Amino acid sequence: MARKQVKKKKAAKAKPRKKAKAAKVLAAEFPRKHRIEVEINGVKYSHEVEPRLLLVHYIRDVVGLTGTHIGCDTTNCGACTVLINGDDGQWKAIKSCTLFAVQANGRKILTIEGLAKDDELHPLQKAFWEHHGLQCGYCTPGMIMSALGYLLINPSPTEMEVRQGISGNLCRCTGYQNIVKAILAAAEEIKASGKPPIEPP
Ligand code: FES
Ligand code: FES
Repeated sequence: MARKQVKKKKAAKAKPRKKAKAAKVLAAEFPRKHRIEVEINGVKYSHEVEPRLLLVHYIRDVVGLTGTHIGCDTTNCGACTVLINGDDGQWKAIKSCTLFAVQANGRKILTIEGLAKDDELHPLQKAFWEHHGLQCGYCTPGMIMSALGYLLINPSPTEMEVRQGISGNLCRCTGYQNIVKAILAAAEEIKASGKPPIEPP
């Protein structure tokens, strides 16, 4: 056999072995799943998740807290809003479809299910109920979490400020009037109670 042909044969044999080795190295460097640890509403969770899993899907499908809704998956509607504690330890409202679950590793998260305490509704939940701040209710969990995030930075908002504060959240039913009324009423009640808008879970 000509020397050239022998060389070719050897190279063909070596290719699959090289590929398999490269795949192994790649898998070790970029594992398909990552372990994350988060605390949601005071409960600790630890799961292996794919890097592409959105936080909203983690909360709903892996943890099973379906109070957080999905309206668009593209950062437009705000239905998926939750609170997350930032590097400074402060709670911030975020749209959970804009974050990968792995980006929330090590964080505390508050969802709509974590607001009521001892069977008592949070002032925002109560105000939405009393002021008819919802119709179909699809936007409501996100709207309430967004309002809560806003009241944390502005506890005494004007009507216009409330409208700006929830401008990232869409409601297709109510026309927003009663939502704004409810948030203003909740702000008053929270102030009168002398308690912080969020009680640690
Ligand atoms: S689902 Fe609409 S902003 Fe996240
Ligand atoms: S109450 Fe129906 S979308 Fe807001």
